Amino acid sequence: MTFEDQLSHLFPDAAAIPAEYNLPGEIHQRSYLSDGVMKNWHGDVHTVVSPICIKTPSGLERRVIGSYPLCGQEEAKASLDAAVRAYADGRGEWPTMSVAERIACVEKFTGKMIAKKQEVVQLIMWEIGKSYGDSVKEFDRTVEYIHATIDALKNLDRKSSSFAIEQGIIGQIRRSPLGVVLCMGPFNYPLNETFTTLIPALIMGNTLLFKPPKHGTLVHFPLLEAFRDCFPAGVVNTIYGRGNVIIQPLMESGKINVLTLIGSSKVADQLKKMHPKVNRLRAILGLDAKNAAIITEKADIDLAVKECVLGSLSFNGQRCTAIKIIYVHRSVADTFLEKLTDAVGKLKFGMPWEKDVFLTPLPEPQKPGYLQSCVADAVAHGAKVINPNGGAANASFVYPAIVYPVNEKMKLYREEQFGPVIPVVPFDDIETPVRYLIEADHGQQVAVFSNDAAELATLIDPLVNQVSRVNINCQCQRGPDIFPFTGRKDSAEATLSVFDALRAFSIRSLVATKQTEENKALINEIVSAQSSNFLSTKYIF
Ligand code: G3H
Repeated sequence: MTFEDQLSHLFPDAAAIPAEYNLPGEIHQRSYLSDGVMKNWHGDVHTVVSPICIKTPSGLERRVIGSYPLCGQEEAKASLDAAVRAYADGRGEWPTMSVAERIACVEKFTGKMIAKKQEVVQLIMWEIGKSYGDSVKEFDRTVEYIHATIDALKNLDRKSSSFAIEQGIIGQIRRSPLGVVLCMGPFNYPLNETFTTLIPALIMGNTLLFKPPKHGTLVHFPLLEAFRDCFPAGVVNTIYGRGNVIIQPLMESGKINVLTLIGSSKVADQLKKMHPKVNRLRAILGLDAKNAAIITEKADIDLAVKECVLGSLSFNGQRCTAIKIIYVHRSVADTFLEKLTDAVGKLKFGMPWEKDVFLTPLPEPQKPGYLQSCVADAVAHGAKVINPNGGAANASFVYPAIVYPVNEKMKLYREEQFGPVIPVVPFDDIETPVRYLIEADHGQQVAVFSNDAAELATLIDPLVNQVSRVNINCQCQRGPDIFPFTGRKDSAEATLSVFDALRAFSIRSLVATKQTEENKALINEIVSAQSSNFLSTKYIF
């Protein structure tokens, strides 16, 4: 079959969708979790269309997979009020509950979540077009993350279960919650990245307002009853609706204590400024990135190609950690480009359920047009699409384009394309890519390819002060989840990892007293009677 045939026959007839991967029917969500109950919704809804198109007599159409409530400010405010009530100025049942009891609630939730795996995985695949294999991985990684979070909190709590005595003062130091958290996740990891902030925020005793991402909303619907059944009323509340309508009043209320968002720096900036007392707002943000790969003369080109393909095209380049620009030394550029072209040409494209599929349709309706405009702009400024069929598109699918040579006049040089376009820049002097990173607005990660220890050493020291992770001879990535995930400049605020997230969503509080006989007796009495959850030597095994 020619490429053209493959591309034009990419999307199936409705009847050709394998039954085991098909949704049982459309999912029309008409309820949402707020204040401990699933509230019914009779107002406007947003129709959810899949990136997967279906052949119809009138041409290709994105398949409708369901709809969800488009609530307004009133409903969002009711959810905020519920979260504020549940926190009750830190005196609510959840923020004062013992760590062991909170862990038990999260474990119960995890069990119920696992029971919904198949439904959630199918929805990830249909809602954002992620391959079935990667959708399963996203679910499993999230469950592992929750287990790791529980273990990390147990460790933290064990370390806090004793008293420190210094300079005649007895103290017990623990981490306490911060208040009401507004949590918003991204479409590319709608479950995983939302939960890597939501779960630590929750388990540390905060109450939550949780807005699912625009694409990847239905993914969360099967889990809402589990949230309702496992946590006290008002601890987890969902908000649905247009972000630009419902979020502003929430921020302006001043009742949000923590903003956690994986999204754009522009939106994060706007939201923070809406808070009447920015000093009271903690922000935990994963933002824009334009990670570069630097391939030197001394690189193993085959390895560099393999990692750059994974780095720039996994989930069609829609990862914040994706390699979004490649600098290659001019002396090895031809070899690199030839091998890169060959490797990209071998990637299988198709429907997310197809075995070994790597490239799939894109969920954002504007994305194919945007990517084409980036490529056209690069061509107008002197670059070429060097791989056969690069940039060819059919509806929501865009075939990867390798664009060379890219320069500073092109949009692809600075903009985060977040899609299957690979800009490649030749360089003669290693100072060129280093300066690119220094001058960039972003500072998340870099991938350096070289087999020369001395060369690597001279690059590592300046680069660790530009970005937050220097990857040697491998692509950029977030994991393993125990590693710190953060960024400089417009790429992040605060640090996420299993352990760092527990710290980010809490603050250290301590109880202290002078070491007198009377005070020792009082502390002993409280500890023996187990009458305080904070002042306690209880040990979680
Ligand atoms: O979208 C950004 C994600 O945090 C990337 O995670 O590197 O594991 O794909 P990943």
